[in-house]
Amino acid sequence: MLEKMIDLARNAMGRAYAPYSNFHVGAVMLGADGGTYAGCNVENAAYPQGCCAEASAISAMVMAGETRIAEVVVMGRGEGLVTPCGGCRQRIREFADDNTPIHICGEEGLRETLTLGELLPLSFGPENLKIKD
Ligand code: THU
Repeated sequence: MLEKMIDLARNAMGRAYAPYSNFHVGAVMLGADGGTYAGCNVENAAYPQGCCAEASAISAMVMAGETRIAEVVVMGRGEGLVTPCGGCRQRIREFADDNTPIHICGEEGLRETLTLGELLPLSFGPENLKIKD
């Protein structure tokens, strides 16, 4: 499955609309049902309105009726690891847990696998809103 997800992420990265940063990113969510949902970053002339690849992939996943993330692939170019930004770590957190693997890839393939708990320790999630009174 990981190789399939990496291929999908490479394809998604090729669809990125990133004329301002020229930094193309692809992301794939593997749903608990086994479905795969890809997204790319979509920038905007009003810069803050741009959308990360992970956010696009999560939207596609929810639109398909899936709300649990089993694994994530993120792919970008450059020397450094393209880990999800802080906001996207929280977006993933909504549908995943501390043990969810996040595979960080370059165009050539897998570079490193981290868990969401490593990337976003002591996170705040939907459970925190369940207060007993
Ligand atoms: N970007 C993503 O789409 N995902 C990441 O994990 C890191 C950054 C995008 C946002 C922006 O379009 C470009 O990369 C440069 O920051």
